[in-house]
Amino acid sequence: MTSEPGFQLSGDAPERYESHVATIMAPFVAALLDAARPEPGDAVLDVACGTGFAARAAADLVGADGNIVGVDVNPGMLAAAGAHTPDAAPLYWNQASADALPFDDAAFDVVVCQQGVQYFPELDAAFTEFARVLRPGGRVAVTAWASIDGSPFFLAQRLAIDEVAGPKVAASYATSFSCTAKRIAAAMREAGLDEVRTRELQVMIKLPPLADFAPAHLSALPWASAVAEARRDGIRKATETLCELLGPFTASDGTAELPFTSTVAAAVR
Ligand SMILES: C[S@@+](CC[C@H](N)C(=O)[O-])C[C@H]1O[C@@H](n2cnc3c(N)ncnc32)[C@H](O)[C@@H]1O
Repeated sequence: MTSEPGFQLSGDAPERYESHVATIMAPFVAALLDAARPEPGDAVLDVACGTGFAARAAADLVGADGNIVGVDVNPGMLAAAGAHTPDAAPLYWNQASADALPFDDAAFDVVVCQQGVQYFPELDAAFTEFARVLRPGGRVAVTAWASIDGSPFFLAQRLAIDEVAGPKVAASYATSFSCTAKRIAAAMREAGLDEVRTRELQVMIKLPPLADFAPAHLSALPWASAVAEARRDGIRKATETLCELLGPFTASDGTAELPFTSTVAAAVR
């Protein structure tokens, strides 16, 4: 690798990620697996698995005769994934980088990657690896946040981070929205994958009362420390700004229902 991977959490942040990010990820995990179609008995690789949202959902589809391997560069994410593995589920966790997968050629029926590709320093090398470890006819599906304008919660979060921690931190946050459908499709084709297709999926998600959810969610992201260090009341100020910006989406009980938008891309080996 030529540079450090993005989206790195440490300490107890992976546990907070597991608790506070699940609500937003759930519909996109469903779309990812719908695009990849794991079947009973399949071997599935979840790249950049994090705490295991997609891997656990895939385990329900492949059943006892299948198996799921989750890989991630971050040992803290893998430890949280291990702690949340249901008893007897055919789930295995492995520390590895997406661009150097420690598996034989054609070892998997399905490769998935949920909100990971935008953080890979070597995107083309990663897709080459996805294609290498897939058997001929195997399926790959990935999701990556689309333009931030399609996700008002993230837009408000970026503005709040900018206000408190400054444009450099906000620009780092914005990398989450930097990997376009066109770029993903090009990397898939370059890797020799066929039947490449992409779509933009927008779903409405109801969030718990924002005054509590916004700081909890931010605490599960790599940019939280910069916000907290920028000023003593950084997290409170960022929460205040976000809640104010999302006023039009917020109900009288503090909950908010907003659109979230992601690219869903799929291909066949
Ligand atoms: C936003 S999280 C997504 C985690 C999980 N897929 C999910 O749906 O919640 C991004 C993940 O990508 C991982 N990551 C970043 N660069 C990576 C790389 N080069 N290889 C493997 N994992 C990587 C991070 O450690 C982090 O767990």
